[in-house]
Amino acid sequence: MLHQLKEKALEAIAQANDFKKLEEIYRQYLGRKGELTKILRSLRDIPEKERKEKGNLANQIKKKIDEAIKNRTEELSGQVKLVKEKGWIDVSAPGVLPLEGHPHPISLVQQQAEDIFQSMGFSVVEGPEIETEYYNFDALNIPQNHPARDLWDTFWLKDINLLLRTHTSPMQARYMEKHQPPLRIIVPGRCFRHEATDASHDVQFYQIEGLMVGQNISVVHFKGIVEEFLKKLFGPEVKMRLRPGYFPFTEPSFEVDIMVSFADKSGTNSANCKKLGKWLEVMGAGMVHQNVFKAVGYPLRKWQGFAFGLGLERLAMLKYKIDDIRLFYSGDLRFLRQF
Ligand code: PHE
Repeated sequence: MLHQLKEKALEAIAQANDFKKLEEIYRQYLGRKGELTKILRSLRDIPEKERKEKGNLANQIKKKIDEAIKNRTEELSGQVKLVKEKGWIDVSAPGVLPLEGHPHPISLVQQQAEDIFQSMGFSVVEGPEIETEYYNFDALNIPQNHPARDLWDTFWLKDINLLLRTHTSPMQARYMEKHQPPLRIIVPGRCFRHEATDASHDVQFYQIEGLMVGQNISVVHFKGIVEEFLKKLFGPEVKMRLRPGYFPFTEPSFEVDIMVSFADKSGTNSANCKKLGKWLEVMGAGMVHQNVFKAVGYPLRKWQGFAFGLGLERLAMLKYKIDDIRLFYSGDLRFLRQF
């Protein structure tokens, strides 16, 4: 009986001329209520000796049918079908490119940023996404009950004193505790904020923290390095401006805006990115506060340094003319395949 079933199935597969028919055949034999599936299931109820023999045979047949369906599917798709139907094949026709994996746009920009900063002598280090309250706040001159804590809407974990880091700045303190100046690092990483989402905010996002500490490091170094970075990433036309800002761990503090007013290669400014030709805030920054040096055990007033926190999504949005931050995490392949 099993042999008959096999012959019947293989013949049907050979004669199937489209995918729909193949699917039907699959269902008829191998589906949940398929003929062969039923037989396999009924094996439970027969004596052990017989079961083994019959089971082996049934499984072999199952494999055969499965393979035959796969082969026929391949045959029906593409060139093989052409040859059969038309008797010829167009060898000059472009092939079908297999789908390949590729980096996410955020990873692409992160990689470029790492390369640029490394070329300027910065090391790349990483830190934990789950942070302690101490490193995320206290070590950064944000004591408990300080109103500035409200600047970061925090996801607290049930475990007391643990949270999802709201910025990459905790790594400033972690790194300086273990290393002496002069030092230059960047810290790429994911951050989390308990905020409403819109076209330019999401509950998770990526930052690149930068930190340079040494003797006589000033705002001039900061401007020089950040400008160089932006030029390498966006080209020489990029403009940058500093506005006064406030962060408890830097003094003075700045907000940095950039304008990427490149005319589109097609001649016009891209209509679907309203941000082009406008100032867009891409980072918070400033000169490291002496209280942070104090918290990590550096002697007072010996060192100076600057720090910044760059929003990676913002950079990627400008670079690739993306107008909604939520697209990055939508998992929409139509979006992702463009990179
Ligand atoms: N951590 C700040 C934020 O996320 C940015 C920042 C980093 C500001 C370093 C100053 C220095 O908003």
